[in-house]
Amino acid sequence: MEKKELIYEGKAKKIYKTDKEEIYLQEFKDDATAFNGLKKDKIPHKGELNNQISTYIFNQLKENAIPTHFLEKLSPTEMLVRKVDIIKIEVVCRNITAGSLVKKFGLEEGIELENPVIEYYYKSDELGDPLFNEDHIYALKLADKFDLGIIKKMTLAVNEILRKYFLKHGIKLVDFKLEFGKDRFGNILLADEISPDTCRLWDSETNKKLDKDRFRFDLGEVEEAYQEINKRLAEA
Ligand code: TMP
Ligand code: ASP
Repeated sequence: MEKKELIYEGKAKKIYKTDKEEIYLQEFKDDATAFNGLKKDKIPHKGELNNQISTYIFNQLKENAIPTHFLEKLSPTEMLVRKVDIIKIEVVCRNITAGSLVKKFGLEEGIELENPVIEYYYKSDELGDPLFNEDHIYALKLADKFDLGIIKKMTLAVNEILRKYFLKHGIKLVDFKLEFGKDRFGNILLADEISPDTCRLWDSETNKKLDKDRFRFDLGEVEEAYQEINKRLAEA
């Protein structure tokens, strides 16, 4: 597979064309940002770790019949993915109170939610990814009712699969963010990455934070936390 021109560079990843029209190459960077790019640094080996962790997770989802863009891990920092047009919605799913939910509604952190809470954010760096609702999504023509129905069902299914998967490895899935894309046939595929950059992951015994919150809030041992997640998921 030949790596061709760069077509997109985000804060944590680059997407390249390949010699196959329908296949893109997704490269994970060590760069980390928070608060819409206000805080910036590099986390050593993050690219490799997130590529490996995302690979474990996409394989787990594939085994459970979730359609994703993932094809195969190509190198320590690269994976091959199906070409999709990204739908400009960030779908957040929460099981335990944390992060912006706590801030917005004055809640205590760490309370188990009776039912998962789904939120939609408009994927727009210029606007700072504002929270919006289903009517905004239809008004902006980002997805229709049918597609948003599929996206919501897929998110809840991913939540059930990954909650069990992480718990088996001694990790609580507090919350996470998903992105979806459409392939050339109009199928909706789970896209982007799933990693400690995009999930809150707490040790199931101690509630120690093992995710990007260590970077966001200068908690220290950032690389070590990503290494720990990788090590635990490697144990079959
Ligand atoms: P939040 O509590 O800050 O809204 O974050 C909810 C989840 O979404 C958390 O697991 C981190 C993830 N997330 C991203 O992947 N990208 C982002 O830009 C933000 C703000 C959150
Ligand atoms: N990825 C986002 C950014 O830089 C925010 C975050 O993950 O907290 O801006």
